[in-house]
Amino acid sequence: GRTIAVSGSASGIGRALAGLLRERGDEVIGIDLHEAEVVADLGTPEGRAHAVRRVLELCGGVLDAVVACAGVSQFTSLPVRVNFFGVTALLEGLRPALARAERPRAATVASISGTQPLDEAVVAACLDGDEEAAVAAAEKVVAAGQGNKTYPSSKAALAQWLRRVCITPEWAGAGIPLNAIAPGVVRTPMIEPLLADAAMVKIMNEAVPMPLGGHADPEVIAEALAWLISPANTHMTGQIIYVDGGAEAILRGPEV
Ligand code: NAI
Repeated sequence: GRTIAVSGSASGIGRALAGLLRERGDEVIGIDLHEAEVVADLGTPEGRAHAVRRVLELCGGVLDAVVACAGVSQFTSLPVRVNFFGVTALLEGLRPALARAERPRAATVASISGTQPLDEAVVAACLDGDEEAAVAAAEKVVAAGQGNKTYPSSKAALAQWLRRVCITPEWAGAGIPLNAIAPGVVRTPMIEPLLADAAMVKIMNEAVPMPLGGHADPEVIAEALAWLISPANTHMTGQIIYVDGGAEAILRGPEV
């Protein structure tokens, strides 16, 4: 079996992935706020440093794969801290341990919402690596009554970051594919409260139309992530793969 670090392993997509990998005989080092091998808050610099340190201890400095699933969807600035800086710091912090493995792989979870209206200042500050500026920009968006833009901004920034770094000597040059799955609507605790509200379901189905299969179960996203980090994936990198029942094809149209 391989040794694989999975953030967000206590719930939803991360939990489904950790279960799938363990069934296949891999050793999973889960990272989460609770119920995980490594309990850490990826929303803070100290928490991220702690998470990286503990994972390196547990894996002995060599890691076959990392999948950063942990994320939040509040209408606050928190998505910037967790979904962008939490994910990128974890991937960067564990990259040297990946580089020591024979067939290392990395993946994360973007979102169909990364294609929706966002705030350019938040995205730019994220890509600059300036967390406090990004959070300040997000606070401004929230104060302007557009808190719904912070989550899409964090996910769009993550997707753009991924496409920039995946081809560098540190990633492609070190033989590490780096990709993302971008789900549509997935039935997890993150959106359970929304799915319980019929009016909200109607709004969500208009925003994210999923003619193929409707809302997905987390196991479906886990299967796709598992392939991205499998030894079979030797040449796919830098891709944001929509596992969304057709939503992206509808929203963006036929031009690619
Ligand atoms: P979830 O809420 O079921 O699971 C997220 C996990 O991340 C939880 O266990 C939580 O404790 C952990 N987490 C949150 N903040 C953390 C922090 N600061 N430090 C450490 N761990 C933290 O959510 P779900 O749906 O499984 O989401 C997983 C990923 O999928 C997220 O990145 C989310 O944005 C993304 N996603 C989810 C969609 C959905 O419809 N559920 C759609 C598109 C993307």
